[in-house]
Amino acid sequence: MSSAVWPDLRSMAFGGDYNPEQWPREVWRDDVRLMREAGVNLVSIGIFSWALIEVREGEFDFSWLDEIIELLHENGIAVDLGTPTASPPAWFFANHPDARAVTADGVPLGFGSRGMASHSAPAYRDAAVRIATELAQRYGSHPAVVLWHVHNEYGVPVGEDFSDHSVREWRLWLQERYGTLDALNAAWGTAFWGQHYGEWAHVGAPATAPSVINPAQRLDFARFTDSQLRACFVAERDAIRAHSDRPITTNFMANQHNGCDLWAWAREVDIVSDDHYLWAADEEGEIGLAIAADLTRSVGGGAPWILMEHSTSAVNWQPRNVAKRRGEMARNSLSHVGRGADGILFFQWRAGRSGAEKFHSAMLPHAGETSRVFREVVDLGAKLGTLDEVLGSRVHADVAVLWDFESFWAQDLEWRPSVDVGHAERIRAFYERLWRDNITVDFALPGHDLSGYKLVIAPAQYLLSGADADNLNRYVEQGGTLVVSFFSAVVDENDAVHSGGFLAPLAPALGVTVEEHLPLREGDTGGVDFGGSTLTVDVWQEDLTLVGAETRGVYTDGPGTGGAAITRHRHGAGIGWYISTRPDADGLAAIMTEVYADAGIAPAELPTGVEAIRRRGVDADYLVAINHGTDAVSLPTSGVNLLTQDDIRGMLVLQPGDVAVVREPHTASGGGR
Ligand code: GAL
Repeated sequence: MSSAVWPDLRSMAFGGDYNPEQWPREVWRDDVRLMREAGVNLVSIGIFSWALIEVREGEFDFSWLDEIIELLHENGIAVDLGTPTASPPAWFFANHPDARAVTADGVPLGFGSRGMASHSAPAYRDAAVRIATELAQRYGSHPAVVLWHVHNEYGVPVGEDFSDHSVREWRLWLQERYGTLDALNAAWGTAFWGQHYGEWAHVGAPATAPSVINPAQRLDFARFTDSQLRACFVAERDAIRAHSDRPITTNFMANQHNGCDLWAWAREVDIVSDDHYLWAADEEGEIGLAIAADLTRSVGGGAPWILMEHSTSAVNWQPRNVAKRRGEMARNSLSHVGRGADGILFFQWRAGRSGAEKFHSAMLPHAGETSRVFREVVDLGAKLGTLDEVLGSRVHADVAVLWDFESFWAQDLEWRPSVDVGHAERIRAFYERLWRDNITVDFALPGHDLSGYKLVIAPAQYLLSGADADNLNRYVEQGGTLVVSFFSAVVDENDAVHSGGFLAPLAPALGVTVEEHLPLREGDTGGVDFGGSTLTVDVWQEDLTLVGAETRGVYTDGPGTGGAAITRHRHGAGIGWYISTRPDADGLAAIMTEVYADAGIAPAELPTGVEAIRRRGVDADYLVAINHGTDAVSLPTSGVNLLTQDDIRGMLVLQPGDVAVVREPHTASGGGR
């Protein structure tokens, strides 16, 4: 089956960032020899090469790039060509000092590292479009170039910018959004603390101030920053598009909170691609990985996507950079494949000897081609080479978890009721439950058409517009099951508390509103009687007002004692659950068992530590199974393990740490487990 990623991709893309400019020519020849040995078919080049391509302003030297592209092409290795605009050269900052990004404290960011200039500086915008145009004119129809990689990870390390250029654009953006100062004053609630504006020229960026800055202003500045960064991408994309018909992407950082609303970004790229790095401190990093992969697939509407970067072993930028152990790289890679990736790439091909990333792992480590890591890379290349028929197949999910960047931006601001409440923590808790139950998840926005899902979970929907609340109410009315966790539907799109009080917009679906938040002291726990068993809860309780819901859990310990803690409400043809506290993992499992029953969802009974996801193809399903545990396990399936060509008749045995991809006949559900 042909891939939706790009039409003539015949095998899983496999490779990584390649920085040949850091190496002499003889190393290049060694590189392509070893790339061929590993089955590398795609490398990303030029991402940080601006200074070596545009050597002085307006003066270009493409000789080395010509040479390496030809060498790769002769060796059958395709090119994902970067535009190097994440790292302007020294001459740029020297010639355009005003284009430097400025921090909230008024400090202009200097050179000697990496990071773009001010997203709003005309000199930067012009220079970025100029080099993108030059590259597209020269290589736009080169047969080696199959993909464009614009910039690198928009939003980091430079996102919000407080320079004069940014402030000028910010005012224009606000004028466009609000039309009049009266509307801005109303939306920002500037009657509070005497912040009323009488002149547009007085409206500043939310730079460092004596106390907490207006949260509505902060939220709008986050929206503005996201839209300016996206405009930078669109300008480069359109410059390339004028000279090249190859697909254009930029590498996202799903689940890493870089200030980009990926739902909006995904609409602008031809192919969604993502960078993902494990958090070494997280002993079950595979769950965070799965969140990022499912989010990446979801923002792209379910289409196949590319893992643009991950690591073969340790990274270098965490406090303790734990090396991946044998087989972990393959397990990580296959989990991404299971969750919809049609390409597995790494940062980076060859470990660099100099610079800030010399302790970062690579496909070809400092230890060279006999190293464990390189041998595993070769093995992974061979494994991915067996998966051609998986390309283009899709993941199906019955459950959606709401993921709303704007809500997260607002919730993360200061002066919230408790520092122990975090959106990421709540999403992880619910997702983790679903992961352990082997239930495949999509992420969605509260305004999406959710009618295809049996269950929708809102773990952290602090900000909810009236229109989105209506959508959720309608979803339940029409038969859906909705679960809402505490501190949700608190404010509207201007970070103003909903009139009617907390949770009021969801009262139709949930049959409950919140009278008062009751955060707990650090380390305190409480209890909830849930159907006769006592659940341990912490961080948060609430004083609820029931408006139709039945009480399913009652506080037995803590400030809410005697009041309802967990409610269930029948609304139209569906059911709305509300959980007003933070249960521990066992407590959440108990609640979710009842929720699954309401939603008609059956968790797959699989051995502990097994991850199993299905992709649905035209002629078959593909079960990607990963054993994260230390015991051999068996799981029911029949078909052919594409990685080994073994026939599987009824039961797949997976050794500790092993992976399998089984071509199965279509299942009745056709979906994930
Ligand atoms: C990414 C970045 C790469 C490299 C990598 C190291 O965020 O895009 O250029 O720095 O991190 O883990």
